[in-house]
Amino acid sequence: MCGIIGYTGQKCAIPILLEGLATLEYRGYDSAGIAVQKNGLQTVKAKGRLALLEEKLSACAYLADATCGIGHTRWATHGEPSDVNSHPHGTERLALVHNGIIENYMEIAAFLAEQGYTFLSQTDTEIAAKLIDYHYVKTGNPQKAIFSALEMLRGAYAFGICFADYPNRIYAVRRDNPLIVAVTEDGGLIASDVPAVLAHTNTYWRPEEKILTVIDGAEITFYNSTGEMVTQASETVDWNVQQARKGGFPHFMLKEIHEQPAAVSHTVSAYLRDGLPYFNLEALDSEFLKKFNAIHVVACGTAMHAGLIGKNIIERICRVPVHVEIASEFRYRDPILDKNDLVILLSQSGETADTLAALRHAKEKGVYTLAIVNVIGSTVAREADSVLYTLAGPEIAVASTKAYSVQCALLYLLALRLALVHKKISAKEARQICQKLLSAVPKAIEQALALKNEISAYAKTLVDAEHLFYIGRGIDCDLCTEASLKLKEISYIHSEAYAAGELKHGTISLVVENTPIIALCTVSSLAEKMLSGIREVASRGAKLLVVTSKAVADAYDFPADIHIVLPEIDELFAPFPACCVMQLLAYYVSAQKGLDVDKPRNLAKSVTVE
Ligand code: AGP
Repeated sequence: MCGIIGYTGQKCAIPILLEGLATLEYRGYDSAGIAVQKNGLQTVKAKGRLALLEEKLSACAYLADATCGIGHTRWATHGEPSDVNSHPHGTERLALVHNGIIENYMEIAAFLAEQGYTFLSQTDTEIAAKLIDYHYVKTGNPQKAIFSALEMLRGAYAFGICFADYPNRIYAVRRDNPLIVAVTEDGGLIASDVPAVLAHTNTYWRPEEKILTVIDGAEITFYNSTGEMVTQASETVDWNVQQARKGGFPHFMLKEIHEQPAAVSHTVSAYLRDGLPYFNLEALDSEFLKKFNAIHVVACGTAMHAGLIGKNIIERICRVPVHVEIASEFRYRDPILDKNDLVILLSQSGETADTLAALRHAKEKGVYTLAIVNVIGSTVAREADSVLYTLAGPEIAVASTKAYSVQCALLYLLALRLALVHKKISAKEARQICQKLLSAVPKAIEQALALKNEISAYAKTLVDAEHLFYIGRGIDCDLCTEASLKLKEISYIHSEAYAAGELKHGTISLVVENTPIIALCTVSSLAEKMLSGIREVASRGAKLLVVTSKAVADAYDFPADIHIVLPEIDELFAPFPACCVMQLLAYYVSAQKGLDVDKPRNLAKSVTVE
């Protein structure tokens, strides 16, 4: 997620902008920039850390007394990290910073090109800035220009804008993305998030969508799109900066679990055109996709577990064989690769050494490589033949949660694209599935989040456990692998994911009185078989939690100590709410044990060693 900041008032703006950006660093970024009002708009930008921007600014002493400006830390979504792609973007008439994604930026770019505009960067933001500029040239009025542009823009945004003709003013407006505005006795501020204003005040506004904020010195005014002045409710918090960075959540992991609905809808919507999967990669055109004999999904840890979900869905819908490989084993077992195979590398960080090594091995063998990565411009993304980015935003907690969900969502879309190409489903069916991915899935995750009290209560019963099992069949078994890893890595309880039907072939000897067992059963066609597996462990005294769908819960009476019934959703999408429940369970066990949830012992967020 990008970070925006703005200040106008009696004080020197640059130190305030830099300090504000520093408090937003936790949002993750790869470049930064500011624009200040000094004989017109002066912009300074730098790829890399804030220190590099500060270094550039130290050579711009003539800007030191500027008292109005905007700043930005960029988490790249369109265009590699670079000076030219850094914000602010604009013209000699205005400068703009943006957090969010403009979906119809290509359409707008074509319109602006017809009006004679050209573009320096690869960003959607520059296009938004020049659209406002276009309307400003036409109307001469900043407010009219902004609202006219918003009529044409589709997507999520929080904009901070300065106009050279109004050297003491900052304009700000948002849709689907956070925006904080505040005033103090000496001036006014805008920011992406509360931490950036806490050094100045703990009272602020979160303007409603498409309400334009105009700050002029310590004056703040709100306008609706008809130009009427409106009022907005202010908020006051007693957070410190660290609490504010977590959005009031006690840990980044819990915040990121709650960000999943938005992360999934952002990622899915970025890859839909006319309601169908659209990857805008000539490499993934129909002819190319038709020729694959097999797909190899190669990854580590949670990413590999997302690959298991992808395997299940792609094979179920497309009937194309998918092999899921642990990256650290891949090249050492001299995998059988065919020129007509596709190797997909899944990675949140895009820097995992094992995954990178597997990528290089596949390329040496002349096999086409597609990376699905969350960090723009990361090494895996750059070295693969093609890349599809997930749009989860930065994932700070070591335990991966929202990255897993968006990887799964993207694999569902890939499965649909393959199925259309192989004529396994109709466009109508594919559109229906895409629409559910876009709306029903985020809603079901929201509903799963609402089960947190039930989950937290059950978590208490596991705090002293030393060993436990997650069991399931089919896609539930794949989900158990991720559920088990989540619990192990943050609560330090030994757990094992086991195919429910396999327990009786040996491992059930470990099940004794009060062994905690979590049984996942969302697949109605497998419920009968799951019931017998659950009865087997229940008869040996296991302490059972059954996580199931309403349809299955209505049809079967599981001998469990506790049931968690998932939100109603088409069974095809059950992994999304089910995984959210498992993530919350792991989170609450760890938090109730008083462990360092966000930074578990022995672990790193990105494992850059083999
Ligand atoms: C997941 O919670 C772990 N942090 C770990 O398994 C992680 O998924 C794995 O190291 C892969 O990381 P990547 O997705 O950045 O490649």
